[in-house]
Parts: sequence; C-alpha cells; structure tokens
Amino acid sequence: GFFDLEVADSLASTNSRLLEKSVQGAPHGSCVITEMQTAGRGRRGREWHANLGGSLTFSLLWRFNQGAGFLSGLSLAVGVALMRALNQAGVPGAGLKWPNDVLHQHRKLAGILIELQGDMLGPSAAVIGIGINLKLSSKVLNRIDQAVVDIHSIGGKVSERNLLLANILLHLADVLNEFDAGGFSILREEWLKYHAYQEKQVLLMLPDGNQHEGYLLDVADDGALLVRTAIGKQRFTSGEISLRTV
Ligand code: BTN
Repeated sequence: GFFDLEVADSLASTNSRLLEKSVQGAPHGSCVITEMQTAGRGRRGREWHANLGGSLTFSLLWRFNQGAGFLSGLSLAVGVALMRALNQAGVPGAGLKWPNDVLHQHRKLAGILIELQGDMLGPSAAVIGIGINLKLSSKVLNRIDQAVVDIHSIGGKVSERNLLLANILLHLADVLNEFDAGGFSILREEWLKYHAYQEKQVLLMLPDGNQHEGYLLDVADDGALLVRTAIGKQRFTSGEISLRTV
C-alpha cells in the first residue's frame, strides 16, 4: 500500500535500513521511521545526533523511470516539500539553505540525506532521509558542533509529530510527482521564495579547505547555485561547495 510504513523503536539509520530493503525490491513509497537512531548519518560523512524522541527521523523510497543523472535538483525539491509542511504546521520563520538544510534564524532545524541507487541512464531509486529536530536534550546539544534549533524552542508542538510526519509524506508525494514530470525547474521559483540567503554575501567552503566570499545570485533549473565572486559569475553543484554565513 501507499505509504508502506515500517516503524521501529530503534535502528542504526533509517537510510541504511531502507537502502537494504530497496536492494531487496521494496516498493516505491516504502517508508521507514524510528524513535531512535544509533548511527544516524548526515551529509559529507557527518553524524546525525538525537536523543530518544528528540528528532523526527525517517526515510522514503522513491523510484524514478529516469536515470540518476536526472536527479541533480532532487534534494532542493525535497526542501520545498519540508517547507510546505512546516508552513502548514504553523512553524514560523523557517527557510532553506542551499542545497537542502532547513534553517531557523541561521540555526539548523532539519537536514536531508539523499542516497541514489541505479546508474546515470537507467531507472533509479532515491532513499530520501529526513531528520527534523523536535526537542533535543542538552546532552545531545553539547555533542553537535553546529548551531541547531528544535521545533519545541520555536513554538511548534512536538506532540503533533505524527501529524507533521503525515503532512510531510503527503507534500513529498506531491513534490516528487511534480519533480518527476518537470524536473526541479518547475519548483525553482517556490524554492527561491524560501531561500534564506537569497542575494546575501556568504562564505563558500571548498572541499580542499579553501574559502571564498560570494554573493548568492540564483539557483539554476538543475539546482546548481549561481554565485558572484571576485573572479565573476560561477556555478556550483552540491558536491563542490558548502556555505557559511560571513
Ligand atoms: C544532513 O543535514 O547532513 C543530513 C541529515 C539527515 C538525517 C536523516 S535522519 C533519517 C535519515 N537516516 C539517516 O541516517 N540520516 C537521515
């Protein structure tokens, strides 16, 4: 059925669990949710930390007829679905940081980890992992080395997490169908409305550790970031840079 839900008390990582299930043929729309991850994973090899019930952690499997090469803007599309659901839940003041963090006043409220299966041309599958901070314990807060915030501390209702999850899944289905039909380009204008750093000066961190300042101009139809730097207008994909506020 749709969505095919697995709910577990504890798992290493919902993404890891769903990647395994996907290889074994789990259907489109399969979803894994857990109260607690013991080895939650973030982007760029980072860890995702949360206490029991401290964050809403789940993953959704989405199968595409097109190849993984088509999926470059997917992580931005998922950010749009999260923003729609947070707005609907009345969580105020959230915005997106390219490529796909959800921020509240410069602090991270939610993260997205997308892992692709399949090759560039044939059918592909995406395991879309989402973590939303609900109510983090002070112990966990001390372990996290970046500025974070949770739903509880910005006036949202943690008791409505099941409703939030249901709404995110419904918005994800909408957004992913839109993406499947037209790519990121049809979601681009909506993404820009939520962009926290649109036309702002930021630091671009390169994987080699170098950093440059840049002015955020736009995102392209494939989700690439367009930046004005000292050497002119440049275009970056998510593997190439990460952003910091100046
Ligand atoms: C990031 O901001 O770096 C991405 C964080 C993604 C965390 C979620 S929690 C559910 C899913 N399972 C994981 O192991 N990670 C993602």
